Amino acid sequence: MTAPLLPMETAADPPANLHPDIEAVLVSQAQIARKIAELAVLIDTDYAGREVVLVGVLKGAVMVMADLARALSVPVSLEFMAVSSYGSATSSSGVVRILKDLDRDIAGCHVLVVEDIIDSGLTLSWLLRNLRSRGPASVEVVAMLRKPEAAQVQVPVRYMGFDIPSVFVVGYGLDYAQRYRELPYVGTLRPEVYSS
Ligand code: PRP
Repeated sequence: MTAPLLPMETAADPPANLHPDIEAVLVSQAQIARKIAELAVLIDTDYAGREVVLVGVLKGAVMVMADLARALSVPVSLEFMAVSSYGSATSSSGVVRILKDLDRDIAGCHVLVVEDIIDSGLTLSWLLRNLRSRGPASVEVVAMLRKPEAAQVQVPVRYMGFDIPSVFVVGYGLDYAQRYRELPYVGTLRPEVYSS
């Protein structure tokens, strides 16, 4: 599934209470809500009659995980992994290690990996290999954001939210130095935020 590339100007409904550090909104709260509902319909259809193990990748995926889990009708269980791929820098190091593993065996389970963003694709590529080695019945991916221009490896994503330009973004789970994750939209930071 190919999601449309969203130029900044199309951010439909900039919130009245825009955070002062945000320069532009790339994906609005309303656009995210609509996309979650759309993805939930697709996932409910594909997994009808089955139970799904949602595997969220901390910390960024918590918002997608919470919204998607509540939008789905199929029974789900929530699992989290923490893997380290970035420091506080604004680009991917490509180094992945497990900081927190799943709490359960996923052998024979239908696993849906939930990601906030696919940047280089290195984290997800590594994670999919790791999860597949545990003998699940299936492993698919749902991601809210993807930067096609930043891809270093191609990762099969069954359910895709928005393709965005290769700019540093925060909000809806995405951070800069652990801040801004709580913003209900996705946007770029003002340049002065990086230098302060
Ligand atoms: C982000 C994001 C993905 C990964 C994507 O996590 O949540 O897991 O980077 O990057 P990649 O496609 O280049 O591998 P991050 O390591 O920043 O951790 P966080 O979710 O805790 O912020």
